[in-house]
Amino acid sequence: MLYHRFFITRHRTTIVISLIASSVFLLATCINNSENKKQTSKADSFRQFAGSEACANCHKDIFDKHIHTEHHLTSRPPLEKNISGSFENGKNVFVFDPVTNVTMEKRDSGFYQVAYQNGKEVRKGRFDIVIGSGRKGQSYLNWLNNRLVQLPITYFTPAGQWSNSPGYYRNRVTFYRPITSRCLECHSTYFEKISDTQRFEDFDRRKIIYGVDCEKCHGPAAAHVAFQTKNPTVKEAKYIVNPGKLPRQRLLDLCALCHGGELTKTKPSFSFQAGDTLSNYFTWNPADPNIANIDVHGNQLGLLSVSKCFTIGSVTCINCHNVHENENNKVEIFSQRCITCHSAGHEKTCKMTAAIGPVITQNCIDCHMPKKSSHAVAVFLQGADVPTPSLMRTHYITIYPEDTKKVMDKLKNASTLMKAKKKDHVK
Ligand code: HEC
Ligand code: HEC
Ligand code: HEC
Ligand code: HEC
Ligand code: HEC
Ligand code: HEC
Ligand code: HEC
Repeated sequence: MLYHRFFITRHRTTIVISLIASSVFLLATCINNSENKKQTSKADSFRQFAGSEACANCHKDIFDKHIHTEHHLTSRPPLEKNISGSFENGKNVFVFDPVTNVTMEKRDSGFYQVAYQNGKEVRKGRFDIVIGSGRKGQSYLNWLNNRLVQLPITYFTPAGQWSNSPGYYRNRVTFYRPITSRCLECHSTYFEKISDTQRFEDFDRRKIIYGVDCEKCHGPAAAHVAFQTKNPTVKEAKYIVNPGKLPRQRLLDLCALCHGGELTKTKPSFSFQAGDTLSNYFTWNPADPNIANIDVHGNQLGLLSVSKCFTIGSVTCINCHNVHENENNKVEIFSQRCITCHSAGHEKTCKMTAAIGPVITQNCIDCHMPKKSSHAVAVFLQGADVPTPSLMRTHYITIYPEDTKKVMDKLKNASTLMKAKKKDHVK
């Protein structure tokens, strides 16, 4: 569903860079137990992973919660339960014009997007990989031999509809948009690349680790699993990265691999690992001097890093996010995390405290991190002339007078309602 236009326009240059860089492919494994950086050949990299099922044996609590996160769900095989959109008659058609449509169909060999012209089938593509948890939407990839392309139709959750894929021509059915390793790097743990051509990259279909899973944030962990299994009495961890123990900038680098806006790679995709320095792999400018240019989509770090909580305070992503758990929409939990800093004796407290009253502790978020429209993520719904944007929480934490007014009006209405109810009750 994303208008990831920049990945397409940049595609050619990145291919050239990765061709040059692949000859000096260094897989840097940074292990925080003072392991030296190892040099590993590309063919070995898949074997360094254990897979997250292995973690369940010893970290069951974390594993059980993590499978419900958007990170874990962000790329998956094309099972019916993983596809958000409907295949039911009447709900499975996206109409481009009176004679052209794409229909989502279940056939014997899988799920397909089938293009029809004047009622005649002209082209089809199978759903082979699902990208996106479905919280905002999903896009679907199709294998052409060892290459991946994006299918023409995307599911847009806010509207509950199939839509034209973001960045696609509004009136043209397109089946062959190449998917780059950078797209996969942000939406999976590992895809092994086998070659580059001018426009396409080839992948090894047997060497895929779906989801932004444990080993994306903790580094490939086959060595950790082997060691801890062999030495069950050792209660101290070996051969594993705990991002919570990294220096602040290294932790931010890990999240910024995918939440730091547009990065231009200088090394092949999938060579960065948890604990590494991001600027050794990408040229990177997290914050635009003009805040209005930083998109709410995909650049949480850029926005946070111009906020006072970050510049004066030393907040990082994990002050507010427990990434092992799905905490979507739990604004009260997030507000408690604001209060760990913003309370008497610590940082400044809200100037509106008296005006709002005790309910203030339930929701700091709608006033200070309101939802804003993304410029980058917008799709054309069927028949629409203007794209519909996705709404996202801004991470520029500051004072928003208009949003404050909306929240205050809501609070007033709610308290008037409460009073009316109480009166009714008394009668
Ligand atoms: C055979 C048991 C075992 C398996 C399997 C295992 N671990 Fe561990 N892990 C441990 C032990 C023991 C520790 C040290 C005690 C602790 O922190 O819980 C540990 C600690 C950790 C830590 C914290 C390290 C630190 O320095 O604070 C992380 C992160 C971690 N494991 C991740 C993983 C991941 C990811 C997997 C799956 C790929 C995994 N573990 C599989 C036993 C295991
Ligand atoms: C490899 C890329 C990648 C890395 C590294 C990564 N994320 Fe994400 N993150 C994503 C993607 C992709 C999504 C959206 C998933 C979806 O909905 O399909 C996401 C979603 C999220 C969400 C919203 C959904 C939720 O589960 O609550 C939060 C919060 C988040 N990431 C925080 C972090 C933090 C904090 C870090 C660093 C510790 C981090 N991410 C590291 C790719 C990444
Ligand atoms: C998006 C990144 C991300 C993913 C995915 C992730 N972790 Fe973590 N993990 C972290 C961060 C960040 C910390 C440090 C948290 C802190 O210090 O507050 C951490 C800490 C840990 C620890 C140390 C103990 C603790 O509870 O803090 C263990 C063990 C661990 N993770 C295991 C796992 C396992 C197992 C999985 C997969 C089931 C997993 N993690 C998935 C980012 C991640
Ligand atoms: C730089 C990292 C990055 C790249 C590259 C990237 N994405 Fe994303 N994508 C994200 C993050 C982060 C999110 C969720 C949070 C946000 O939007 O800020 C996301 C969200 C999505 C979602 C919505 C998921 C949901 O339900 O919330 C879809 C679908 C998606 N991306 C598809 C793609 C496709 C297809 C490509 C490649 C053509 C791609 N993305 C490239 C980082 C990336
Ligand atoms: C790690 C501590 C920390 C956390 C957590 C934190 N902040 Fe802050 N925040 C600060 C500091 C420090 C300042 C700067 C205070 C000053 O000006 O002296 C600040 C400033 C602010 C400001 C003033 C911004 C401006 O532009 O004037 C607001 C509003 C704010 N925080 C709201 C929040 C909200 C809402 C949350 C939770 C979503 C939060 N903060 C979480 C430390 C934190
Ligand atoms: C001061 C607290 C705070 C900090 C620091 C913070 N976040 Fe968030 N983040 C939130 C809140 C609150 C939400 C909204 C959660 C919800 O409504 O489900 C959110 C939502 C998100 C989302 C989902 C966006 C959407 O609207 O779908 C992503 C992705 C995310 N954060 C990533 C990050 C990353 C990466 C960092 C570090 C660069 C970070 N956050 C730092 C408080 C914070
Ligand atoms: C109804 C909207 C609203 C809610 C809810 C709200 N704030 Fe505020 N906050 C404001 C406004 C407006 C200001 C600026 C007031 C002024 O300057 O007179 C402000 C100011 C602040 C400041 C700056 C104080 C200073 O001295 O510069 C901080 C910090 C802050 N809020 C934190 C919070 C936290 C933490 C919460 C949740 C416990 C919260 N706010 C809840 C609207 C709100």
